Amino acid sequence: MEFSTLTTAAQQNIETAALAVGVFTNGILTPAAQAVDHASGGAVRQTLETEFRAKPNTRLVLRNLPGVNAGRIVLIGLGEQASYSARGHAAAELAFARYCVSAGLTEAVSALAAAECPASTAARRAQAAAVAAGEATYHYSLTLGKKDPDAAPRLAKLTLAVSRDQATAATAGLARGRAIANGMALTRQLGDLPANICTPTYLGEAARKLGREFRRITVEVLERQQIEALKMGSFLSVARGSYEPPVFIVLKYAPASRKPSAKRRGAPATNKAPIVLVGKGITFDAGGISLKPAAAMDEMKYDMCGAASVLGTLRAVAELELDREVIGLVPSCENLPSGRANKPGDVVTSMSGQTIEILNTDAEGRLILCDTLTYAERFKPAAVIDMATLTGACVVALGHVNSGLFSPDDALAENLLQAGRDANDPAWRLPLDGAYQERLRSNFADTANVGGRPAGAITAACFLSRFTKAYRWAHLDIAGTAWRSGGADKGATGRPVPLLVQYLADHA
Ligand code: BES
Ligand code: MN
Ligand code: ZN
Repeated sequence: MEFSTLTTAAQQNIETAALAVGVFTNGILTPAAQAVDHASGGAVRQTLETEFRAKPNTRLVLRNLPGVNAGRIVLIGLGEQASYSARGHAAAELAFARYCVSAGLTEAVSALAAAECPASTAARRAQAAAVAAGEATYHYSLTLGKKDPDAAPRLAKLTLAVSRDQATAATAGLARGRAIANGMALTRQLGDLPANICTPTYLGEAARKLGREFRRITVEVLERQQIEALKMGSFLSVARGSYEPPVFIVLKYAPASRKPSAKRRGAPATNKAPIVLVGKGITFDAGGISLKPAAAMDEMKYDMCGAASVLGTLRAVAELELDREVIGLVPSCENLPSGRANKPGDVVTSMSGQTIEILNTDAEGRLILCDTLTYAERFKPAAVIDMATLTGACVVALGHVNSGLFSPDDALAENLLQAGRDANDPAWRLPLDGAYQERLRSNFADTANVGGRPAGAITAACFLSRFTKAYRWAHLDIAGTAWRSGGADKGATGRPVPLLVQYLADHA
């Protein structure tokens, strides 16, 4: 999709099929709405008096207004001006983009980002507009067969009408937003694919494809023998239960300014040390011998959304050519019951040397992540951030609004929370106190893999923390935010790609 800006204070002269202007409740108009109202002899105010309440996420289409060049003016309700926020703006852009898609438009202009709102900037709003357009034009088709083959959205060009002093910031925001949108589309596509297509091998191929598309990304896909040589006994124990071969994917993004790594070898972790992203890549989670119930088990094809977010984020990082080395690590396999699967009570030895008693084979995400977190040490990273659809307990705690954030490092946690707020991809921090660690005690191994029902998201994070002592670390539990369940809008969301790209771009 193509994005651009235009600057004018005479919005009535903009030539387009559809121009979005925002209106608040109580007859308060944004500057663009005022210009259109004025040029049309009061058509906007008249509509507000009679039929449009300007509630958030509502719209009204006015066609062929006198004195206005746009084919349609799409009034977008912004709600109360006093409570208008960046989130409200993002929702407004999404409402408009969805309208354009449903109307089959190929191009449109939005003046929504020009209106100021608290705790926001023109760049952030332009970014949100591009992300919203990406959201609205995402289309899954790979397995649709004969069902609506040409239902693909046609909206190909979105222009933002902004003021002259906003133009530079808006252009930069659009570039970041487009990269985020493209990354999210990749993440969503991989998430939505069924598990019989999106296997570990397929994820490895998707990573290799990124490596071919972006010359600054290099990709290695390790196979079972190489994973064995690394002594990833915990990861391999999960993989053993399936016929589908596991892979361990290493993606490296190197910025143009990157010094030869030999110079850095052995040096302490500095600001410019790489940031490592780790993503859970269970392409299907049946639970193993601790089998899950049948209801909604199909949604466990989404158990690789952490992995897909790593790929989507690296894609965005490469498109933005960020000046920071970023490494993506993806352990990927299936979790199935079989004659070779883990059994409750089995003890395995992780790459770190710590032994693990597997009391529940359905707590498999942490078993593949712990070896990956140990592997991450070799990069002497500035920070390691893992994302995983890790626990149903996190969905109970935070629902589908906030991702769960865990980190022993207050500064890292605060930076990630801020990135989430800025990118409209929020996270909420949960505690990691030592007292929760006690739940992981085992009589037969260094640690158990589960800590019982109470605080399930926290004890899962506590388990991971035992493998992250060598660096600054944060964990995002995206079980509630990576996809939407059931319903008409069932599908991957592309989260937490916006949060991660925002964090990386702000700390490059
Ligand atoms: N992939 C699941 C977590 C999950 C479940 C995400 C439902 C989204 C919706 C994970 O592997 C899992 O099964 N976790 C268990 C852990 C338990 C056995 C301690 C869970 O949450 O029930
Ligand atoms: Mn599981
Ligand atoms: Zn899982």
